[in-house]
Amino acid sequence: MKKTIIRGTGRYLPSRVVTNDDLAKLMETSDEWIKQRTGIEKRHWTPEEGGVGSSDLGLEAAKIALDRAGWKAEDLDFIIFATLSPDIYFPGPGCLLQHKLGLFSTPALDIRQQCTGFLYGLATADSYIKSGLANKILLVGAEVHSTGLDISTRGRDVTVIFGDGAAALCLEGVETDENVGLLSVSLYAEGKYADNLSTEFPASRCNPRLTEESLRQGLHYAKMDGKNIFKLAVRRLPETANKCLKDANLLISDIDLVIPHQANLRINQAFQQAMNLPEEKVFHNIQRYGNTTAASIPIALDEAIEMNLIGKGSTVLFIGLGAGLTWGGIIYKFPK
Ligand code: UT7
Repeated sequence: MKKTIIRGTGRYLPSRVVTNDDLAKLMETSDEWIKQRTGIEKRHWTPEEGGVGSSDLGLEAAKIALDRAGWKAEDLDFIIFATLSPDIYFPGPGCLLQHKLGLFSTPALDIRQQCTGFLYGLATADSYIKSGLANKILLVGAEVHSTGLDISTRGRDVTVIFGDGAAALCLEGVETDENVGLLSVSLYAEGKYADNLSTEFPASRCNPRLTEESLRQGLHYAKMDGKNIFKLAVRRLPETANKCLKDANLLISDIDLVIPHQANLRINQAFQQAMNLPEEKVFHNIQRYGNTTAASIPIALDEAIEMNLIGKGSTVLFIGLGAGLTWGGIIYKFPK
């Protein structure tokens, strides 16, 4: 059976760096509070005047991934784009990116699974490859959060967390008997917690979809029950990791590096302790980027490869939880 192999990765962060001290000038918060509660020191945001959408960030990351894979855009037979911050309401950024890559008919699919968008996207790519529907897939995770944040004390619990960024993977189906590629996949959703992290407006269930009153109340900004999500993450991430390990017939000691979603440094440290892992086996970059949602795991993967923490023969565990709620884990083994 075909295995899904990562042929190239790339990341792109917009150049505007916003520090915690910058935010403290705009709302009642402090570098100390943000660092202590989340680990975040700074994040990248797109230009304040706008004009940059998630497909633009995705394009830059895609160009790098294609280059590293030695592929041209024309080699792609499928595009999967994961984001919660599409350039416009519809069509989704997958189509916009396809056009920006100069392609004419390559199919493009959008994934709306928020912080687990990358995990759902990777599992979808693997299924397309195994079913024979596609063989060379571009998977992108990209977010522009900054234009959707309440830059005031009212929105501070959410605003200080999120950053903009993108990453892309070139994935190829390869016929091999080697035990490589996606060794196990566990995906979950629990819609009963949908209101724990959501952006309500514009809403198709309201007519009109956006009103002055909804704007005044800030209902077009994300709202979050951070405490509950934190509690759920700390319980479910180790459960999911153990399920992934069992399905792949592996022990935690077989994992060379865990690449978790970057939502909160404390969540990932709690995961590390629950799994009895040494510090160096769990990758963190939230300090520099904040939470980039669908982009966070692939940005971290790209950095970990660049830092030579993982490479030929390595086994990695991707894991994350976020809005939906959705959560999941994937174990991937690089070929030798
Ligand atoms: O990837 C998406 C999934 N999301 C997550 O995984 C988020 C998980 N949750 C979290 O990361 C944390 O819950 C937060 C970082 C969001 C919040 O940390 P917390 O320790 O749960 O703080 P809290 O919400 O209980 O707030 C504590 C206090 C409150 O003040 P009072 O009521 O104690 O007077 C807040 O009003 O901190 C206040 N606060 C802030 N103070 C300074 C909330 N946000 C801020 C802020 N700066 N930015």
